[in-house]
Amino acid sequence: MNNSSPNVYRNYYRLRTANQWRKVQAESGEPGAIRPYLAGNWKMNMTPRSGLALAARLFDICKGIKDVDIGLGPPFTGLSTLAEYIKPDFLKAEYDIGRNVFLLAQDVFFESKGAFTGEISAEMLAAIGVDRVIIGHSDRRANLGKYFGFGSSVARRLSNDFLTQSLSRLKQKDDADSKAIMALEHLLAKENEDVLAGLASFLGGELRDRAGESDEAINRKVLAALEQGLQVIFCCGENREARENNETFKLLERQIRMGLEGVPQRLIHDVVIAYEPLWAIGVGAKPATHEQISEVHDFIRNLIMDLHGEQFAASIRILYGGNVKPDNIADIMTIAGVDGALVGGASLKATDFGQIVRFGLID
Ligand code: PGA
Repeated sequence: MNNSSPNVYRNYYRLRTANQWRKVQAESGEPGAIRPYLAGNWKMNMTPRSGLALAARLFDICKGIKDVDIGLGPPFTGLSTLAEYIKPDFLKAEYDIGRNVFLLAQDVFFESKGAFTGEISAEMLAAIGVDRVIIGHSDRRANLGKYFGFGSSVARRLSNDFLTQSLSRLKQKDDADSKAIMALEHLLAKENEDVLAGLASFLGGELRDRAGESDEAINRKVLAALEQGLQVIFCCGENREARENNETFKLLERQIRMGLEGVPQRLIHDVVIAYEPLWAIGVGAKPATHEQISEVHDFIRNLIMDLHGEQFAASIRILYGGNVKPDNIADIMTIAGVDGALVGGASLKATDFGQIVRFGLID
């Protein structure tokens, strides 16, 4: 490797596939050994009781499996009950598994405590035994606008009445921003009525379709979780529009650079990345193709090498998510650079997720 040539240096590819890692039974501690990681995101499904039943059925199917990491991600309400159940000593005695089962939270807030009704801090998660937290899932990055009415609140704020009142309030302030006053006066001018209506409708629609967690908020969550000793599954992925406009890599680069900004080198080893193209997620969607997954995983690994060095790029686990099922997992895990999967729908059925965890093993 010639470090003086950036072109050569940027050309890092993982050479072994997860299937091969598994076959050689990579000893933990062997340099560069990668444990495949199969993580289930239950989303807003399962009560504490049904979650326990699901976990028990899953462990039955996965008895004796020690060479992969298994993640279980119930909603907040199911975390404590599951934490009590998956204690390593019990799992070891009962199912001959143990230290490779991890409890995942689906989100976290970045402040540690205070007046943030409805939010949960990293400290609270760590205190009940959560190991890892999913941050930046596309359900939260992209889909919050539809549910929380961001679009209609913007449309209201761009109404004539609201702006007129805002303008008069602004004019009474001593330190009012003169540019803001000019902008409001401009929008309120009679001849600009249509411009204002057009802007309201455009922004309303954009926010309804797109508003969600920002890269900045996600970054704060990542830092808060890591500082609390939680590992992070950092999700990124492009929507259909970005893919069609050939902006996949640009978007991913922004998400990763901004999302992981300021993560200190001492904590970067606690980050796992999940690549989840939005258009491949959920009922009725098709998973990304081999080529698509492979080129994105290589891109991400090269970017991580730029940001955090070659050694870390070689060891970071990059998962794929988006319609991972029992019938395609073995195939997906043959793609070099795919170190596991983040699974939604199929993680809700013990038999399906069990087969996913057992990928590559001969039954
Ligand atoms: P899916 O979801 O497996 O149901 O496509 C993946 C995800 O959203 O993490």
